[in-house]
Amino acid sequence: MRLENRYAIITGGSNGIGRATVRRFIAEGAQVAIWDLDTEAAQSLITELGSKQVIYQPVDVTDPDSVTTASQKCFQEWGKIDILINNAGILHDAQLVKYKDNEVQGIMSLKTFDEVIDVNLRGTFICTRAIVPYMIKQKYGRVISTTSIVGIYGNFGQTNYAASKSGVIGMTRVWSRELGRYNISVNAVAPGFIETDMVRQMPADILQLMIDRTPLRRLGKPDEIANVFLFLASDEASFISGAVISADGGTVLGT
Ligand code: NAI
Repeated sequence: MRLENRYAIITGGSNGIGRATVRRFIAEGAQVAIWDLDTEAAQSLITELGSKQVIYQPVDVTDPDSVTTASQKCFQEWGKIDILINNAGILHDAQLVKYKDNEVQGIMSLKTFDEVIDVNLRGTFICTRAIVPYMIKQKYGRVISTTSIVGIYGNFGQTNYAASKSGVIGMTRVWSRELGRYNISVNAVAPGFIETDMVRQMPADILQLMIDRTPLRRLGKPDEIANVFLFLASDEASFISGAVISADGGTVLGT
């Protein structure tokens, strides 16, 4: 029971990596709030778990009002907020400029750029900004955000996603410096390619290429990322801050 008496918010907890993390945190004794837009998936998880340790709040991480209201409710209910897992994220791939047959055939639109930045980068900023004041007052906190292997190496067709995930690494390092004095550690996890709906959107040949570039020769499982979140949220990680921990089967993009 590594998270006994710990209170955690997990954004994007309805599906994929977040869903696996909710399961893992509950099993380790935490109280968990799922912040997500997918109500149906959250309800099915709560039914499956049959636990009083989990609640669902329909929160859009890009909406500061929705985040503030949910934060206040968590604090009223729990009396403290120990852990924030910034995990909600989206993909919307396009080349910066698609050039074929001597012609520009497409560009990444501003809308495509902005919508990914909005959820992955701005959402992480909005949620952390809302929760940190509670953590400062209680002189304890763990902020753990999801970046990506793509935020470290870049990836074809992912200008927006890479920018958002590199930004998460930058914010993690700033927040680690700003918040350490309040006993708040701030870290990021950089998954490689993990079997979730997000990755299932990718063309099969690209996915196979990624597997071929992964020394462990397979996709990761959501549980394998949940385990890293658990470690960083547990007392075992008490002296780790400002770190970006990769869990990617050894994948190095671009080689
Ligand atoms: P997923 O698509 O299975 O789950 C993402 C969850 O975020 C969904 O439940 C969705 O409803 C929620 N969400 C999306 N926009 C939201 C918003 N505005 N407000 C609240 N919730 C919102 O994705 P997956 O694969 O589990 O990804 C989780 C995180 O891991 C993301 O940040 C992603 O970028 C990151 N990641 C995933 C990798 C992978 O291979 N699956 C690799 C590297 C990073």
